[in-house]
Amino acid sequence: MEELYREQILEHYKRPHNFGRLDDPDLEFEDTNPFCGDEQHVTIRLDDDDRVAEVMFEGKGCAISTAATSMLTDELVGKSRDELILIPREFVLDLLGIDISATRMKCALLGLKVVKGAGLGKTAEWDE
Ligand code: FES
Repeated sequence: MEELYREQILEHYKRPHNFGRLDDPDLEFEDTNPFCGDEQHVTIRLDDDDRVAEVMFEGKGCAISTAATSMLTDELVGKSRDELILIPREFVLDLLGIDISATRMKCALLGLKVVKGAGLGKTAEWDE
């Protein structure tokens, strides 16, 4: 079973979903994995009810971080800002479906950290 999840992670790493950047997003945020320096940046457009209409992310990272954020962004359309902030880490770990070691935990949760930052309305400069 783990094998299936591993293949899925590799697939998301090679062809991440929602990869790129929205013009004039309503919310955006970026952050870094302090252990490796990899960073991710997320842009979100909200609909008239302040729910996620579109989301994209970019940045660099390992297979786990890229796949986790790719899978996470597939699940965000329709969520309110409050719901974004309240997404538990287990949600992302369940999407990944494999055991994540303590050292890779920051990789797995980088995207969630960035999405929560965006939901909180934090802003950060993004250097090309
Ligand atoms: Fe950098 Fe995983 S090694 S995000």
